[in-house]
Amino acid sequence: MSDHYTANPGRYNTMPYRRSGNSGVLLSSLSLGLWHNFGDVDRYDNSRQMLLTAFDNGICSMDLDNNYCPPAGSAEETFGRIMQQDLMHHRDELFISTKAGHLMWPGPYGEWGSRKSMLASLDQSLKRMKLDYVDIYYSHRYDSNTPIEETVGALIHAVKSGKALYAGISKYPVEVARKAFSLLKAAGVPCLLHQIRYSMLLREDGNNLFGLHRKEGVGCISFSPLAQGVLTEKYLHGIPEDSRAAKESGFLKVNQVVPLVGKIQKLHDMAVERGQTLAQMAIAWQLTDDRITTVLIGASSPGQILENLKALNNTSFTAEELQKINLILDTPPFWDGIA
Ligand SMILES: NC(=O)c1ccc[n+]([C@@H]2O[C@H](COP(=O)([O-])OP(=O)(O)OC[C@H]3O[C@@H](n4cnc5c(N)ncnc54)[C@H](OP(=O)(O)O)[C@@H]3O)[C@@H](O)[C@H]2O)c1
Repeated sequence: MSDHYTANPGRYNTMPYRRSGNSGVLLSSLSLGLWHNFGDVDRYDNSRQMLLTAFDNGICSMDLDNNYCPPAGSAEETFGRIMQQDLMHHRDELFISTKAGHLMWPGPYGEWGSRKSMLASLDQSLKRMKLDYVDIYYSHRYDSNTPIEETVGALIHAVKSGKALYAGISKYPVEVARKAFSLLKAAGVPCLLHQIRYSMLLREDGNNLFGLHRKEGVGCISFSPLAQGVLTEKYLHGIPEDSRAAKESGFLKVNQVVPLVGKIQKLHDMAVERGQTLAQMAIAWQLTDDRITTVLIGASSPGQILENLKALNNTSFTAEELQKINLILDTPPFWDGIA
């Protein structure tokens, strides 16, 4: 990609867009997350090319957080730089999120869910991203030491002040999510999205929450659909030097990967039979499920994004295939939990 960026005119031709819960918002079936590989420690040109590759292929939903990437905050700064360089004219085509709740700055206000922390963090994020507003502002994690009314009140304030268009929550347990949805709805700021960890390997949060989302008309954005890269071919023959598991700054550890290699090999063989890579099959497995609004992927190169986009080419599974995946992973049936 040259220094001068011109957006692909065909960018909306192949991406399906799905409605988030009962809202008016359509989101690209895939979203791109900037948790890793967008920091000061990473190559700016690679980060830029990943973001533009996603945008050029119809991914309009971009997920950030106040502390993403080493050093904390630098993913938002990189994003702000790319926005200024390439994407400001496309601002109204983008659905940009940020969050607060995990540790960002020292002292008692640098994390969790107080009004003080949530609103200060949003102002900092907007400055780093060089934006006037975000499309969705999330409480990144439930804070049991702060009244839920206070955390949700900060989200409502963010929306009513115009600094965010919608409110969301992330990783909330079911009972607190129910309370948050109800408080948000009562304030006229219904929760747009709940962000949950969900993949073929880790299904518990989805199974606990999908019924509630449907009942309350809240969308669901599933993060780490590749279990941080485990659901790809990359770890079948060891731990590659440039992989997330090999990096000190990453959140994936070698001892989490190694015990899974036998099962991953079987899933890989099955993906090959379907004419897909394992990454594509793992994403397609989520796209076939209408309880998920958008699948939130990460990447370390533009090539991975292009490969993963091809998951859209085959999102249908036979009942036998779904059962085979469950048998390989020794998990309850995929369709369990539908309300
Ligand atoms: N709400 C929350 O608490 C929370 C928590 C976690 C994540 N998130 C969000 O979810 C986003 C996605 O999470 P994630 O990065 O863990 O998602 P993921 O899609 O499960 O994993 C992405 C990683 O998998 C590897 N990968 C991707 N495509 C590949 C391919 N085709 N072939 C081989 N390897 C491939 C890359 O790792 P390598 O570096 O090894 O190449 C990439 O960085 C984050 O960026 C963030 O926005 C939210």
